[in-house]
Amino acid sequence: MPAHRILIRDADVVLPDQVLQTNVLVEGTQIAAIDASRQHSADEVIEGRGLTLMPGVVDDQVHFREPGATHKEDIGSGSVACASGGVTTFLEMPNTQPTATSVAALQWKYDRAAKTSRVNYGFYIGATADNVDALQQAHFAPGIKIFIGSSTGDLLVDEQAALERIFAETTLPICAHCEDETTVRRNRAALGENLTTADHSRIRTAEAALIATQRAIALARKYSHRFHVLHVSTAIEVPEVRDGNPLITSEVCPHHLFFSTEDYATLGTLVQMNPSVKSPDDARLLWQALLAGDIQVVATDHAPHLLEEKGVPYPASPSGIPAVENSLALMLNQFNLGRCSLTQIASWMCDAPARVWDLVGKGRIAVGYDADLVLVDTQLERTIENSTQRTRARWSPWAGQTLKGWPIRTLVRGQTVFQNGQVSEDAHGSAVVCDHQRGGYWATPNGVGT
Ligand code: DOR
Repeated sequence: MPAHRILIRDADVVLPDQVLQTNVLVEGTQIAAIDASRQHSADEVIEGRGLTLMPGVVDDQVHFREPGATHKEDIGSGSVACASGGVTTFLEMPNTQPTATSVAALQWKYDRAAKTSRVNYGFYIGATADNVDALQQAHFAPGIKIFIGSSTGDLLVDEQAALERIFAETTLPICAHCEDETTVRRNRAALGENLTTADHSRIRTAEAALIATQRAIALARKYSHRFHVLHVSTAIEVPEVRDGNPLITSEVCPHHLFFSTEDYATLGTLVQMNPSVKSPDDARLLWQALLAGDIQVVATDHAPHLLEEKGVPYPASPSGIPAVENSLALMLNQFNLGRCSLTQIASWMCDAPARVWDLVGKGRIAVGYDADLVLVDTQLERTIENSTQRTRARWSPWAGQTLKGWPIRTLVRGQTVFQNGQVSEDAHGSAVVCDHQRGGYWATPNGVGT
């Protein structure tokens, strides 16, 4: 059967180095031509005039709670939220119950996602103090996740000998949650009882983040191991991650860019997450670091908990916020405020994460790449409301905020998964392919890494 051909006409197409009003031809699952003739024969024509065509977002840090806490989210519900937010690929974290720390547990997630995910998926394998064998065998994972500092769940590797072994004896790229456990525990003990939510940032301090980030980067350098610093939250981590060494990459989350300690007064535990929010100056300087290229990736750390759970007084309240369906709109709103360009957004949210994790065919609009695409109306204004959130947690810390610039149609490998406010029941994603052998993706000049 000949491949289904879709011609997307006259959209402003966000290419790696420019935005060009042109026509894009999709054949089957891939992008077949850019600057195709307007008259090109196609089975389906999408009129893109007045709209912007971007690569689908690759969110390399989400928590979808399956197995174990599917009352908060599961792979299916998380993927529906992704589709509506313009996220065409997610990479999910291992702190589920049971944890994804064995090849069998990881395979279970891939099998489950093959049945239920509307968008493309990959799953990290989690490190423990004694599972190096599994880390070596999980060839199909995008990478290894280490919690250097505890968070939701019980995955923690803090002991130096165990960390050395992981960096020395494994080959998959590593990413880490960096908050120093000793510092966090000391701060917690010093504050005593009667804590308020704002104490979360006095416990999980900038210093705690810095110590763990420095420690992990030192290990990556020592063992020449690819390493990605998740959710940089403080300005003082920036000189560390600005390493200049292509082995080291980093990312920032919208909540660390757009919230600060000042928001505890109105949002309380709704802005409780790990790493904690920091000062308004930190948020400002993180944005500058992103603009300067010192941080390469924007991802969400989507971590849904129910509102009832968040409503328990601190410190019993869980850390984490849902974000996957609003992250692109939050960034498009910044574009409309004149704070960044569309090509920068595509680089931070699509291209850079695809290259950090060596995802074949992802992250950019280019011939031969997968037709993971999102049509965006940069002029559409919409107010975020809890009642319309698709995450099973059904709330957003940005509820009440009106953002300008929203995804209106999402295609996953040429298949429309989101349109007219509806996510298709029939659509399904595919497992990402990680070509770690090719390596050097990240280091390639101008990021042209095919
Ligand atoms: O706030 C957080 N919540 N940070 C994490 O690292 C984990 C996440 C969760 O799984 O709830």
